[in-house]
Amino acid sequence: MRRMREEPRPMERAGEGTPFVIRRMTREDLPAVMELEKASFRNPWSFELLQRELNHDWSVIFLLEEPLPEGGRRLLGISIFWIVHDEVHVLNVATAPEHRRRGVGRRLMEATLAEGQARKCCLATLEVRRSNEPAIQLYKSFGFRQVGVRPNYYVGEGEAPEDAIVMVLDF
Ligand SMILES: CC(C)(COP(=O)(O)OP(=O)(O)OC[C@H]1O[C@@H](n2cnc3c(N)ncnc32)[C@H](O)[C@@H]1OP(=O)(O)O)[C@@H](O)C(=O)NCCC(=O)NCCS
Repeated sequence: MRRMREEPRPMERAGEGTPFVIRRMTREDLPAVMELEKASFRNPWSFELLQRELNHDWSVIFLLEEPLPEGGRRLLGISIFWIVHDEVHVLNVATAPEHRRRGVGRRLMEATLAEGQARKCCLATLEVRRSNEPAIQLYKSFGFRQVGVRPNYYVGEGEAPEDAIVMVLDF
């Protein structure tokens, strides 16, 4: 395991117009990330869970931000993944609802997979709700393929359980 709590690492993503910036999350980002989680998921990660994640050597959290004309940056998206041995496990990718279909999810996945490749991983895995067509299409566009199903994997209060589709990408 490597690289614990390193300094934020801005990564200017070249091309395609929008000057998105991708960097690693820090403790100071927790409130903004919580907002994004709540806006994006029926069962968002809790503050405590996110906080714990920041301490895990194997966990990486990328934030994608957009510079604002008046200065500062706005958080548009997040990607949380683990690097365990030679595998990237994508846990969470989300774009703020009002900024979807602008290429944020794609940039985050590119950065996630590039980090995995830089760390000598040879495959990426993830689970996604069977009904989550936007995410499934995003993953397929990177070459992820379905390798299995976890029946009733997502169980939320007051909602019917839902299967997870297990997807894999070989680098
Ligand atoms: C899935 C999600 C991250 C996509 O983010 P996004 O920033 O809108 O995605 P992008 O604009 O980068 O789109 C990239 C590709 O994803 C796919 N896609 C995104 N939204 C889509 C939609 N509504 N329907 C079908 N395909 C979609 C397309 O293949 C798209 O490529 P294209 O624009 O060339 O057609 C976003 O919808 C989201 O945050 N959903 C809620 C959280 C979530 O469910 N995350 C996944 C958990 S496993």
